[in-house]
Amino acid sequence: MRSLLHLPVLSTVRNPGVKCQKVCNRKRSAEDVFRRSPSRHRERRLLSTLLDAFKRRAWIFAAVGQCHYNGPTMRSRRVTWVLLSAGTVFVAFVLLLAAFGVAKPQADIEQRIDALVARMTLEEKLGQMSQTTFPRGLPMAAKDEIRRGRWGSFFNGGTIQEKAEAQRIATNQSRLGIPILYGQDVIHGFRTLFPIPLAQAASWHPELVRQAARIAAREASREGIHWTFAPMADIARDPRWGRIAESLGEDPYLASVVATAMVGGFQGDSLSAQDSIAACGKHYVGYGGAEAGRDYNTTWIPEVLLRNVYLKPFQAMRHAGVATYMSAFNDLNGVPATGSAFALRQVLRNEWKFDGFVVSDYNAVIEMIPHGYAVDEKDAALKAMTAGVDMEMVSRSYHQNAQALIGSKALDPKVVDESVKNILRIKFQLGLFDNRMQPADNLPAAPSVDALDLAKNLAAESLVLLKNKDGTLPIAKSVGKVAIIGPLMDSPVDQMGTWAIGGNREAVRTPLAAMRGLLGESRVASAQGLKNTRDSSHDGFASAREAARSADVALLFLGEEAGLSGEASSRAFLNLPGAQEELASEIVKVGKPTIAIILAGRPLTFHKLAEQVSAVLYAWHPGAMGGPAICNVLFGDVAPSGKLPVTFPRTVGQVPLYYNHMNTGRPAAEFGRDANNKFTSKYLDVSYTPEYPFGFGLSYTTFQYSSVRLSSPSMRVGGQLTASVAVINTGKYQADEVVQLYIRQLAASLTRPIRELIAFRRIHLKPGEKQTVEFNLAADDLAFYKAGGQLTIEPGKFQLWVAPDSASGPIAEFQLLP
Ligand code: BGC
Repeated sequence: MRSLLHLPVLSTVRNPGVKCQKVCNRKRSAEDVFRRSPSRHRERRLLSTLLDAFKRRAWIFAAVGQCHYNGPTMRSRRVTWVLLSAGTVFVAFVLLLAAFGVAKPQADIEQRIDALVARMTLEEKLGQMSQTTFPRGLPMAAKDEIRRGRWGSFFNGGTIQEKAEAQRIATNQSRLGIPILYGQDVIHGFRTLFPIPLAQAASWHPELVRQAARIAAREASREGIHWTFAPMADIARDPRWGRIAESLGEDPYLASVVATAMVGGFQGDSLSAQDSIAACGKHYVGYGGAEAGRDYNTTWIPEVLLRNVYLKPFQAMRHAGVATYMSAFNDLNGVPATGSAFALRQVLRNEWKFDGFVVSDYNAVIEMIPHGYAVDEKDAALKAMTAGVDMEMVSRSYHQNAQALIGSKALDPKVVDESVKNILRIKFQLGLFDNRMQPADNLPAAPSVDALDLAKNLAAESLVLLKNKDGTLPIAKSVGKVAIIGPLMDSPVDQMGTWAIGGNREAVRTPLAAMRGLLGESRVASAQGLKNTRDSSHDGFASAREAARSADVALLFLGEEAGLSGEASSRAFLNLPGAQEELASEIVKVGKPTIAIILAGRPLTFHKLAEQVSAVLYAWHPGAMGGPAICNVLFGDVAPSGKLPVTFPRTVGQVPLYYNHMNTGRPAAEFGRDANNKFTSKYLDVSYTPEYPFGFGLSYTTFQYSSVRLSSPSMRVGGQLTASVAVINTGKYQADEVVQLYIRQLAASLTRPIRELIAFRRIHLKPGEKQTVEFNLAADDLAFYKAGGQLTIEPGKFQLWVAPDSASGPIAEFQLLP
């Protein structure tokens, strides 16, 4: 048996290409929602289920006894009762034993943690609280540090062999044998690259998203990675912010569902399984609210907005048992998130009872100095530790200052112990002390056939059809010749998307390659037209025109390179960069049906282009199998079914523009106001409406929605209501439709959004087929937070839509009664 003192170190990897410098009126308190940690929660649930079962059995025995009472003699009744009572006691005993049996491992872990922490020096504790990038080549100095227990975790970590060697040193040669935790940004796949997270959200298909994360976890874990810095669930309402690519969009409900699926996929059924990795909910919290969409910028988010929007997906991840969180870079309401006792202690620990650990973002602890919140590194360390950041990423302020801080009594040593315990808990849960295997060194880096298949399906379901004039799409397979044009027609790196550290470039199938594979070289003409998406030279236009002329249909692959979205990649303009619009105009002039396929990490504005071309397919950065997925959709093997996870503005000047906004006292289009009335909330020079609303996406077929049927015109607080709609496929193609349920409370003690998504369902219908989609609505679904974390359900009048997007669909009304 391995010693209890043999603990692991955590590791993580970053993208070298992207970054080099890192510097009712029922009230329920939020606390009620999370009284327990998930594991304890599970134990309690099990115990209460068992007790329920016991109660039921006791009741049955009693009932049986009662029957006997009416029949046999007193003596046989007494015998029956004795037997029943003995049976009951026996069953209860067995059930309780079972409950304690299940609860034991966690208790076991806590004992092992306590025993270990009792033996640790302050130096060793601070080592556990420190993470750095993996020392390239594992030099002697690094080996010495590992032996001394200097690092609890590494990221961006070396070869499989180097990782294994470092781990051997940590577990066999350090005083306490605490294993290293290896982390990495496994964001939308590891060896197999799946579509970027924003695209995954556009699939509205949580099961596929879960499967993709499962594959990523398998690929990463077999190479010695234990922990990923994902999912990123920052609500993103501003497409200028480059990190919107890594987000799950603007809606707290959709982001919660997708983030939950990702956590489930990464962590599997148990963290201790060999193919599970710990997930990390990031960036906690508010990072997506960066002013003016500029990365790392200040955020001002009132508590009510924070709780009803920004915190929601993080809370959902907590429900899903996420192992870790990452504290964000941004300054939140005047306090950097990394020093926010409100977010980290009050909400995360006290209200949500989180018992995993919090890692800072890269250097975020010492960045509290330029924020103007800490005087120096010592002060920054004190503030971050006290606020509840357990592990410091990259900067070294904890290790260098904690001793002095404890010496001067500024820092309570218990704070250090708590953090170390939180970190060790996850290391234990991952099985790093027990049964986690070292990675083998002869692993195939190439994705498996199954992984690529999933990457193709997920990419196909994430494509959003925005325009399809006169059924231009799908293209008939009998088409003579196709022209493939544009800077993104054959660019593996750009197609892979923003986080492609481990991605296998050879496995990427571009649209050009896929089209050649499908139609044969002779039926595909191609010309890039532009060297990359920022190229403004017209030199390549002539050959692009030539390709279009030679073909029956022109496919334009436009958009943004991968490096134009993601971290530190904000833009002030949202147009197609370079001379892409001009290229498109030139090709349209050739006179062949022209289809724009836009690959990008954010919503772009392309109003004129959309008017000119016959069809627009939004493909995001679709990952390794983007090419085949796009071909499948273009040729109608799969009907498009993706829906926008974020609003597309007409122009950057409308930003931030999101569907779930409040109404204002002078709404532009409601309450019978005259469109010519100047004094309503709108612009003089552009419509106030989006180019494409949240939830929008066309299909090759058409769906007809019946009016909404409610099971009752009212429901009571604590009650339920069913809303149903019949959806008919009235077109020619079999296809999926994502049916969305929105609500609005017309008046409450706080103004409420004009629509809020609260459920959705993906259905599949053959031509002519009809399906009744039923949603069960509980009064709890209507709850919202008030300041101070008070969750409220207020009786009143509600509107409800069962709709194909956030801007249409049949409406119904109901009353919530006290
Ligand atoms: C990013 C995080 C990332 C970390 C490690 C930071 O710059 O904000 O999302 O996980 O680096 O690579």
